[in-house]
Amino acid sequence: MGAPGRGGGRGGTGGRTRSGAPLGRGAGVKVKTAKRRTASSTRWLERQLNDPYVAEARRLGLRSRSAFKLIHIDERFHILGAGKRVVDLGAAPGGWTAVTAERIRPGKSKSKAPGQLIAVDIGEMDPVPGAVMLRLDFLADDAPARIKEALDGPADVVLSDMAAPATGHSATDHLRVMALAEAAYAFAREVLAPGGAFVSKVLRGGTEKQLLDAIKREFRAVKHFKPKASRADSAEIYLVATGFRGMMRD
Ligand SMILES: C[S@@+](CC[C@H](N)C(=O)[O-])C[C@H]1O[C@@H](n2cnc3c(N)ncnc32)[C@H](O)[C@@H]1O
Repeated sequence: MGAPGRGGGRGGTGGRTRSGAPLGRGAGVKVKTAKRRTASSTRWLERQLNDPYVAEARRLGLRSRSAFKLIHIDERFHILGAGKRVVDLGAAPGGWTAVTAERIRPGKSKSKAPGQLIAVDIGEMDPVPGAVMLRLDFLADDAPARIKEALDGPADVVLSDMAAPATGHSATDHLRVMALAEAAYAFAREVLAPGGAFVSKVLRGGTEKQLLDAIKREFRAVKHFKPKASRADSAEIYLVATGFRGMMRD
């Protein structure tokens, strides 16, 4: 399965369709309601059909439209590169994993280091060449130790796109996303090498002040970033922390 390399304009990755036009709203396909289809699944289908990132992901052989979110993050912050050691938390179905595997491959730059990629998910995921897959619940007590065991040394990047299935109850969903983000951060500060980067899905306005303050102390730069591929009506946003200074005392 292919994955696009760096550079939105060159390979038709981040923000352009095959014809070179910017990815924007689709042509506006309307889906008729069918007897066995609920209103919400009709809305979902309509959104899929009108979503240019879904079409582009399919054309490029990517497993998810989420892949574009990481492409946009990397275009802006340059966190991935040949020879990097990366942990990808909440990896299934593997969009971010495929993009990362491609970008850390030696030979993409002067680096001769092999790089390493550990992809973790609670659910099943088909293998991605170049990645070690670990199927585990990241919130389980032994999860961090098992990931550390698989790593050859400190990590350069910890990515978390983890999200528990939505319950529809926004306060509950909010708490669950933020609990995953906090756990990912607690892990990142234990495994990151100096200068390393941490990227995590959070919810808009949702990075608790205490957590944000702690992250700001330990990284040179901390930003909230909404990739173009992240749906405008979603509260999802990414926290991008770069230049890890090392673990500070609480
Ligand atoms: C939005 S999807 C990730 C999409 C992925 N980044 C991609 O590009 O294909 C969120 C993932 O988080 C995973 N997840 C949720 N809770 C988890 C947990 N406690 N441990 C590990 N993975 C978890 C889900 O199984 C799901 O696959």
